[in-house]
Amino acid sequence: MHTRLTELLEIEYPIMLAGMGGVSYHQLAAAVSNAGGIGTLGAASMSATTMDDEMAKMSELTDKPWGVDLLTAMPGDMAAQVRRIIDAGARIFVGALGVPREVIAMCHDANVLVVNMCGRVQHAVAAVEAGCDLVVAQGTEAGGHTGKVATMPLVPQIVDAVGDRVPVVAAGGLFDGRGLAAALALGADGVWLGTRFIATPEARVSLGYHDALLAADESRTTVSRAYSGKPMRVLANEYTDHFDRHPDELEPFPQQMMRSITDGALHLPTGPDDPNVDPARECYPVGQGVGGIDELFPAADIVARLMEEAEAALARVDKLRG
Ligand SMILES: Cc1cc2nc3c(=O)[nH]c(=O)nc-3n(C[C@H](O)[C@H](O)[C@H](O)COP(=O)(O)O)c2cc1C
Repeated sequence: MHTRLTELLEIEYPIMLAGMGGVSYHQLAAAVSNAGGIGTLGAASMSATTMDDEMAKMSELTDKPWGVDLLTAMPGDMAAQVRRIIDAGARIFVGALGVPREVIAMCHDANVLVVNMCGRVQHAVAAVEAGCDLVVAQGTEAGGHTGKVATMPLVPQIVDAVGDRVPVVAAGGLFDGRGLAAALALGADGVWLGTRFIATPEARVSLGYHDALLAADESRTTVSRAYSGKPMRVLANEYTDHFDRHPDELEPFPQQMMRSITDGALHLPTGPDDPNVDPARECYPVGQGVGGIDELFPAADIVARLMEEAEAALARVDKLRG
């Protein structure tokens, strides 16, 4: 299957691993790249040393293209971080929560492609006008920080607005090959998947995350500012309920993130080694596709299944046409 995405990134399949903060570390990202998609490290909550170690491991584990994702809105020296990402050999840099304007020229000078996460048509237009090479149209169904517009209407509207200039990748609530086929039918050039890849042995997960994800049905998520101060789709629990009832207690981004860490409700950054997790309050970001995920599979199997299922879905549609 060849799309503008596979051609631009020189990958086999139009499948991108979302750069999930706390979850997309080298084991998972390298597995997706080696399986023919592209793995992206979620570096938003990594220290400088951890990011450097993770990128070094990517270079050891794969000779295929890979990327790194940071939050544009996060305070800090993004230019210095992106310089290290370039020097480490990443093929793509992904900026979320804002267009990473200040680093686009630096990336292009080093032949690194710039990707931007977009939840509205105007975000995609601004990203492309600023020089981004690829946009991810992420619908509200997505796990993690998310907007208000659903994937089904968002993707074709972003395709219409910028698809003649850059490839568009669909994200949000997609968890199998039917979603990939649908994304292609909407005019997208591939998919960017988060939640489906959390349910892998390679994902870096805090305690209780896999159990909670596998047990949840599609109605168990909520969009809450409880964990960072910005709207984030997570599994609903006592902690999100508290801030639903007391929105006056919420602090802005990123202060609320410090608050939830202090409250012992956010262990994505510390990961699997931290035993102090209370699943009834913990931050478990997942998309609305969560109900369709009942089993862990190795990341490479997920990539292979996505392609088989997409081919079957496309064949089914072809058959309907008679
Ligand atoms: C645990 C988790 C952490 C995430 N962290 C980030 C992040 O740091 N940067 C980012 O661009 N997107 C982040 N996202 C959003 C994903 O990039 C992606 O758009 C989303 O997972 C797609 O929806 P899906 O989960 O339904 O597949 C995160 C999502 C999850 C589930």
